[in-house]
Amino acid sequence: MKKILFFSFGAILATVVMTNAIFDNLVEITPPEDLKYLMTSNAAMGVCPDEVLIKKANYDWETYLGFNGDLTWKNSSTLWVNVRQMLKTGNLTAFQKVCRSRDLFYGIFGQALYYQCINIFSLMQYTTDWAVAATYVRMWSHLDFMCNVGYEQLISPGVWNCMVANGTSTACDDAYQQNVNYTNPCPTVQRYMDCKKGYLDGVCGKPNGYYACEDTRLGYGSFCENLRCTVMKK
Ligand SMILES: *[C@@H]1O[C@H](CO)[C@@H](O)[C@H](O)[C@H]1NC(C)=O
Ligand SMILES: *[C@@H]1O[C@H](CO)[C@@H](O)[C@H](O)[C@H]1NC(C)=O
Ligand SMILES: *[C@@H]1O[C@H](CO)[C@@H](O)[C@H](O)[C@H]1NC(C)=O
Ligand SMILES: *[C@@H]1O[C@H](CO)[C@@H](O)[C@H](O)[C@H]1NC(C)=O
Repeated sequence: MKKILFFSFGAILATVVMTNAIFDNLVEITPPEDLKYLMTSNAAMGVCPDEVLIKKANYDWETYLGFNGDLTWKNSSTLWVNVRQMLKTGNLTAFQKVCRSRDLFYGIFGQALYYQCINIFSLMQYTTDWAVAATYVRMWSHLDFMCNVGYEQLISPGVWNCMVANGTSTACDDAYQQNVNYTNPCPTVQRYMDCKKGYLDGVCGKPNGYYACEDTRLGYGSFCENLRCTVMKK
């Protein structure tokens, strides 16, 4: 009996994670020790002066969203699951609330400090776990995309539900994992973007693949400078 319960619980968790993937899961499928090659950011931005600022902004943000305030930015994978849970139904009010919370978070830092603090090298001052840092940074770049460039498209009727339900392409993930060379991951990231674009244009219709591609381009563009998404007409 215990064994059966254990396995069904595991299956439910796996399903939740899979069906809530939004646009790209490169952070999740990259070995943690290689994330620094994927997400290197511009050192010229400067580093975050104080973790206290991140803790405060994270706490205020979670309180606004009604999350458990015991979670810190270091619980980034749980936070990202919680955000996706809020968004998964395509509830427009929840979507707008998440975007307002993103504005609140950003506003606590201001532009310069936001970029100085919410990048992988700054966060690595305060943790030894690359996956924790990368997940937090990537969550914010997803939200940045969704709440700005992608907003109008994503709130169009049916689009969000389709993108969430069909967000994962095992074929694109497998091709990335089999071909990526972390000495120079950018060409494989570009191929992953092209793969997801074609896939999502196919299952959700044009131009949704383009939007998924842009989300990925913004997520990894600080390191991979020449990533491109081709605009396609509807
Ligand atoms: C949050 O992260 C801390 C370590 O930073 C860990 O001890 C705690 O169990 C995590 N909480 C949850 C709910 O994942
Ligand atoms: C939509 O989201 C809002 C904000 O989180 C929530 O209050 C409301 O109950 C949700 N509506 C539905 C139908 O789930
Ligand atoms: C997912 O894609 C399929 C086409 O492959 C489509 O029939 C289905 O409606 C999509 N899911 C949602 C929730 O839109
Ligand atoms: C990875 O790329 C580097 C630099 O381009 C190259 O020297 C190395 O041989 C590549 N590794 C593999 C396994 O292809």
